[in-house]
Amino acid sequence: MLIHKSSAGTLGGQVEMMKNILGIIGSPRKNGNTHVIVSRILDGARDAGATSESIFLGDLNILECDGCHACWKGKHVCSKNDDMKHLVPKIVASDVIIFGTPVYWFGPTAIMKCFIDRFVFFNCPANRKKIRNKAGIIAVPFEDRTPDTADLVVGFFEKSLDYLEMRLTDKILVPGVTKRGEVRNRKQVMDKCYRLGKRLAV
Ligand SMILES: Cc1cc2nc3c(=O)[nH]c(=O)nc-3n(C[C@H](O)[C@H](O)[C@H](O)COP(=O)(O)O)c2cc1C
Repeated sequence: MLIHKSSAGTLGGQVEMMKNILGIIGSPRKNGNTHVIVSRILDGARDAGATSESIFLGDLNILECDGCHACWKGKHVCSKNDDMKHLVPKIVASDVIIFGTPVYWFGPTAIMKCFIDRFVFFNCPANRKKIRNKAGIIAVPFEDRTPDTADLVVGFFEKSLDYLEMRLTDKILVPGVTKRGEVRNRKQVMDKCYRLGKRLAV
């Protein structure tokens, strides 16, 4: 589950309050464009002193929300005994969440949608404060060269994060990439991701 993790350090003997950045990779393709983009943002964040962790959703067992609302009753994170019980504490502990998904049929991937569906946990008064005001970033590569191909994915995150009272602060949309990891050749995109990561750390 854990691809990379860096930890907080000290400055002048005092423990610094470092930003905690969580990168979610919602493409099933390892070393694909989503993986490269999210990793580059985390490189910048880590180099600027943040704590970072990336999560490959495809490595995990994340079941569909079936709307039982057990998560609102306070006893369990969810009635389903799957890897969300490990992810929810990481989400709660994070300052920034990067949601990475390629466009799949004009929407997010199924695994990313499954993951977001489970945010219903945060949609009750007792849990809302655990997500409110966190920064969210979306990172979305896709094959078409027309930017509006990503409109539904962008709208999905804009509305969902707004509903959760999160802040969608940045969008990295990368049209025209399809081969595994070819976004690495787009120096401007790589530099933009790295700079964004550095900004997130402060
Ligand atoms: C099932 C599937 C559906 C896709 N649907 C679209 C689409 O609707 N529009 C588009 O521009 N690209 C589409 N693509 C292409 C991917 O968005 C593109 O290859 C992206 O770079 C993959 O990112 P990854 O390397 O992180 O997996 C699709 C790819 C797959 C496998």
